[in-house]
Amino acid sequence: MTDAAQRPAGPRPAPDDIRTREDIASLVRAFYGRVVADPLIGPLFTRTVSVDWPGHFRVMTDFWESSLLTPGVYRRNALRPHRALHANDPLRQEHFDRWLLLWATTVGRMHTGPVADRAVAKAHTVAQALARNTIGTTRSDAAPGPVTVEIDARPER
Ligand code: HEM
Repeated sequence: MTDAAQRPAGPRPAPDDIRTREDIASLVRAFYGRVVADPLIGPLFTRTVSVDWPGHFRVMTDFWESSLLTPGVYRRNALRPHRALHANDPLRQEHFDRWLLLWATTVGRMHTGPVADRAVAKAHTVAQALARNTIGTTRSDAAPGPVTVEIDARPER
């Protein structure tokens, strides 16, 4: 059976923009469903770290709520766990590229609108900052995004 045959008749409703914390929580869950199933980056979340998934979902929902809807909900240092991960299981540019692809795919399938666009642009900006502070490089062809990055890039003491 084709996809079209399985779909109910009539046009598909256009997806809404990201509007609420619940929208973000659903997005985060759907995204990590793709991440853990991904052969390239899934193992980074299991091989050397033991992720507390309910806790991580909550922190990521805070992070995206702060970035997109209500500033100030997330007040942690996003760089720290990535540095720790990189020390044990080295990150590469292709990992960041895959992360961004899965994020853009998840956002694009669930939402459309200016906030969804900002979610994708912001991920690029943060990924660049994380890459620069872990692997020490940054892509010159990465999509431009807002200049501010809410990560604390001070060196660990
Ligand atoms: C190579 C790509 C990436 C990998 C493998 C990765 C992996 C991880 C891991 C293992 C953690 C710790 C989870 C835990 O133990 O609770 C984490 C935390 C986090 N990641 Fe990533 N990440 C990547 C890219 C990104 C990007 C591009 C963003 C933002 C757009 C991001 C945002 C965060 C945030 C906000 C946290 C929570 C930090 C905290 O406050 O504890 N990550 N990530």
